[in-house]
Amino acid sequence: MKHFISIHDITHEEFNQLLSLAAKLKKEQKAGIQHHILKGKTLAMIFTKSSTRTRVSFETGIYQLGGQALFLSANDIQLGRGETIYDTAKVMSRFVDGIMIRTFDHQDVLDLAKYGSIPIINGLTDLLHPCQALADLMTVKEHKGRLRGLKLAYIGDGNNVAHSLLYACAKAGMDISVGSPKGYECDPEIVANAREDAKELGSKIVMTNDPVEAITDADVVYTDTWASMGQESEKEKRVKAFQGYQIDLELFNKSKPDSIFMHCLPAYRGFEMTADVIDGERSVVFDEAENRLHAQKAVMAMLMVGDNKNG
Ligand code: CP
Ligand code: NVA
Repeated sequence: MKHFISIHDITHEEFNQLLSLAAKLKKEQKAGIQHHILKGKTLAMIFTKSSTRTRVSFETGIYQLGGQALFLSANDIQLGRGETIYDTAKVMSRFVDGIMIRTFDHQDVLDLAKYGSIPIINGLTDLLHPCQALADLMTVKEHKGRLRGLKLAYIGDGNNVAHSLLYACAKAGMDISVGSPKGYECDPEIVANAREDAKELGSKIVMTNDPVEAITDADVVYTDTWASMGQESEKEKRVKAFQGYQIDLELFNKSKPDSIFMHCLPAYRGFEMTADVIDGERSVVFDEAENRLHAQKAVMAMLMVGDNKNG
């Protein structure tokens, strides 16, 4: 594994390895065992979009592993004034040991990896959010004891989070049903890739416009905001389009009686779900948020231990 840009790019064994390492790091951190395996290493974190969890978990995570992080807002570095990704990748590769980037255009992340010589971690693009899906399945495993054969229902916008969940479920042998309104479905290319990946472990993928069909008998119920970063101006239109897709208790009750509720956060109560669902007993959203820290540490440990510089 050279980069962590898309779960589609890694094998199901690598995905499992990441999940196991994340669980081990979590257990050991709770037991007070420290691993300074990234001592002397620096992670540059480029953000062209806002973040609470991703920023804080990467920064805290690398610190716990003995290294340090540089927070680089795109407004403050020359990238934001038009310096090319090519030059940025070349220059950064001379200074730091890895780059985590959160940005709009997925191609920018691919280009950083292409032109740089250090590991690149995707901290969210318009297309994918792989760090989130890794922490999500770690959370499912903690609460359900297994992944294979479970059904995850994603209700809402066919966005970056939905795409990474499709890839993650396919790699983990989990079934996934996505229920989205017409016009807000997942990218067909991502669905086709996930269906291809799903053949290996036999996951079932169902794409539907019917939220009830998607949620019925689900072990895990997942949703995300109806208007992602960059779509703020569409909010009003989206709120109308997503009527009927809100996870309220009535819809939630169509999943299994012991199902759990998940959300990548930030969440907007009264929109994609009601407060009684996200603040209810079966919501695991804060375990999920915590697991971003452990999952991120596993990703950095897998990519950044040893000498990764080659140029
Ligand atoms: N879930 C997530 O990525 O949160 P942030 O936008 O706060 O990083
Ligand atoms: N889909 C959301 C996820 C935020 C973590 C967005 O892209 O804004």
